[in-house]
Amino acid sequence: MDKKSEILIDHKKLQKRVDELGEQISKDYEGKNLLVISLLKGSFIFTADLVRSISIPVRIEFMTTSIYGESEVDSGNLKINEELDLPFEEYDILVVDDITDTALTMTGVLKYLSEKNPKSLKTCVLLDKPSRRKTEYVADYIGFEVPNVFIVGYGLNYGFHYRNEKNIIHFLD
Ligand code: IMP
Ligand code: MG
Repeated sequence: MDKKSEILIDHKKLQKRVDELGEQISKDYEGKNLLVISLLKGSFIFTADLVRSISIPVRIEFMTTSIYGESEVDSGNLKINEELDLPFEEYDILVVDDITDTALTMTGVLKYLSEKNPKSLKTCVLLDKPSRRKTEYVADYIGFEVPNVFIVGYGLNYGFHYRNEKNIIHFLD
């Protein structure tokens, strides 16, 4: 790593917590029809590890979103980049994301999915940065709470790079 950085959560600790989340989800969704919807791109590594810690049948799909314009509290400016064509009402949906910051993304995604009438709708985020919330929102499953610093690694990017960094780090300036 050429820039000066500090490890916030190391790879081992991440793996242990992700395994715990997978076990908990496997228990909670036993006998249900679990559909994981992973929000790209940031959650691709977290999702890959999480679903391998889930021991019950699970369908896995992906969505990409972008926020345009000035972020408003009502999250009306979230764009779903590709509509998913699925029988949502058959599934217990668990939306998986890397980090919740303002929560505008998750709030918008939940609004979109709840209109599809799934059997149930819950969320799982690896990292929670509660200090910057613009909407009242708490995920159902949370890996770690993190301070208000820019987080990189384990799927999260800085510019076009660092998604492949194994640990959760932040840059020191
Ligand atoms: P939110 O809509 O503000 O909650 O942010 C959602 C998205 O912004 C996350 O899914 C991330 O992709 C990205 N994001 C927010 N905070 C960070 C960060 O500290 N590092 C990298 N990406 C972030
Ligand atoms: Mg994201």
